[in-house]
Amino acid sequence: MRYRDQTGVIRIHQTGGVDVLQWESIEVGLPEVGQVLIRQTAIGLNFIDTYLRSGLYPTDLPTILGFEGAGVVETVGEGVETIAVGDRVAYATGPIGAYSQYRIFPAIHLVKIPDAISDQVAACVMLKGMTVEYLLNRTYAVQNGDIILFHAISGGVGNIACQWAKHLGATVVGTVGSPEKAELARANGCDYVVEYRRESFLDLVMEVTNGQGVPVVYDAVGQSTFEDSLNSLRMRGLFVSFGQASGPIPEVDLRCFSPRNLYFTRPSLFGYCSNPTDLANSAGQLFDLIQRGVIQGVEPKQSFTLADAANAHTTLESRQTRGSTILIP
Ligand SMILES: NC(=O)c1ccc[n+]([C@@H]2O[C@H](COP(=O)([O-])OP(=O)(O)OC[C@H]3O[C@@H](n4cnc5c(N)ncnc54)[C@H](OP(=O)(O)O)[C@@H]3O)[C@@H](O)[C@H]2O)c1
Repeated sequence: MRYRDQTGVIRIHQTGGVDVLQWESIEVGLPEVGQVLIRQTAIGLNFIDTYLRSGLYPTDLPTILGFEGAGVVETVGEGVETIAVGDRVAYATGPIGAYSQYRIFPAIHLVKIPDAISDQVAACVMLKGMTVEYLLNRTYAVQNGDIILFHAISGGVGNIACQWAKHLGATVVGTVGSPEKAELARANGCDYVVEYRRESFLDLVMEVTNGQGVPVVYDAVGQSTFEDSLNSLRMRGLFVSFGQASGPIPEVDLRCFSPRNLYFTRPSLFGYCSNPTDLANSAGQLFDLIQRGVIQGVEPKQSFTLADAANAHTTLESRQTRGSTILIP
């Protein structure tokens, strides 16, 4: 067994601004039963990392941030049969701690990376892409001909969602924060793009649906879009609140769902891909669509060193990123 003594990590001891992200050296040790040691080659940056850093989502401290990464297996613990030394692997469903050069990880949550997919792509596509898979297939099963509203359509999740929804035959109304992002959305096939900082997405939805509203809204922007997202839904429509990039949604008076018999759900990837079967199905569908060229442009659009994670968080939170971002350990 190869023994790793120390690894560089980004760890937080308190929640707050980006200055709480500290570069530290910690002990690695040897994998135990069911675990492997991974030499990480790329780490996915996700908005959830900023929620945990800021304290919006509670977590035990101190903690090493990050849920998504890829790398090569260096050592395998007892009882691991599905993964071998030298395998290229990726993960996106925890446990937390991806912001590391080396890490010990439960084999059960790993996926082997297909030859045609690079570590860098795997590291930034798994969490966002499997999120898209469960949102479009399982939270609400998008049908050919559906008109759907998807916010932040040129972000990491949005970039994949747009192409996947088009593949399913949907008409996509997508929101973006800038003209450059609008261009990217159109290039991805988004049918109706609205710059929601200066135009009303509700007006556009009503125009496109002849005043009926959409059957589903996928909203991970939260506070700033909540009210008009609800109003964009048709009778018995489903509001999927899966994030809050602009801040938490206000306390909801459940009576607002009554006039149109609306449904509300607050799903998470961890609830949809926590067992090995769901994980393999979801990752398998994602990798298949990438390899067939159905989903393109998944290479990271921004890259930072792991030690520069603070800069990466600032860039993500200030809406300056497009598509996905990786950290290089
Ligand atoms: N529940 C789940 O299972 C799950 C899993 C993965 C991700 N998510 C959520 O999905 C969303 C997208 O995640 P991501 O990692 O791919 O991030 P991202 O979309 O690359 O970045 C977030 C985007 O939100 C938009 N935004 C709108 N208002 C904002 C504000 N006030 N501040 C910052 N951004 C704002 C920005 O796009 P514009 O400039 O175009 O508006 C920004 O680029 C996040 O809310 C995340 O928490 C949820």
